[in-house]
Amino acid sequence: MTIRSWFPTLVYDAPLVRSGGTAFAREVLAETRRIREHDVEGRKWCRKHYPLGYTSYASLCRLHRSFSTFMRLEALLAPHVKSFARRLELDLGKGRLRMTDCWVNVLPRAAAHGLHLHPLSVLSGTYFVQAPRGCSPIRLEDPRLDRRMASPPRRAACRPENRQHVSYPARTGRVILFESWLRHEVGPNPAGADRVSVSFNYDWAGIA
Ligand code: NI
Repeated sequence: MTIRSWFPTLVYDAPLVRSGGTAFAREVLAETRRIREHDVEGRKWCRKHYPLGYTSYASLCRLHRSFSTFMRLEALLAPHVKSFARRLELDLGKGRLRMTDCWVNVLPRAAAHGLHLHPLSVLSGTYFVQAPRGCSPIRLEDPRLDRRMASPPRRAACRPENRQHVSYPARTGRVILFESWLRHEVGPNPAGADRVSVSFNYDWAGIA
């Protein structure tokens, strides 16, 4: 008798850089604060749609095209994305993965980011810029959960691959990558300081 695992969901987790990560994270943090300060329209949008927090998603969602710090981030992410795509064995043909969106998120105490996915993208991810002790993790959901109409829950101590949710702690300087259809959320931040991250999407470009 054999039982095998099929259809895995891969999640990539690594430090952005081997050394100098703290200095770069500080630079991104300072840039994020400047962007928030100047982004009047974005802050206005957030008051209505992003309670307590700030995201540049609705106002400045292509930071990698305008700000040198985020251009640098795009360059530093490139080898990670390449290696994740290789591991996923994506057949890109003549195309390539291209960063389409890149935006910042600031979650002060009690701010949260509800369950969502990133439509129209191939890969998405987050780079943690400031992760104060005890701040919310990113929680990923089994993509088949909405199809399990009569399925019992899994035992609390089940094997990792049978879990229906998994959380990755936010850790300053680290990168998480996943396929864009994977639903994820950030619960209310219990930490006293801002949880700051950069999120980004990649599409499959150059195939036409
Ligand atoms: Ni997201």
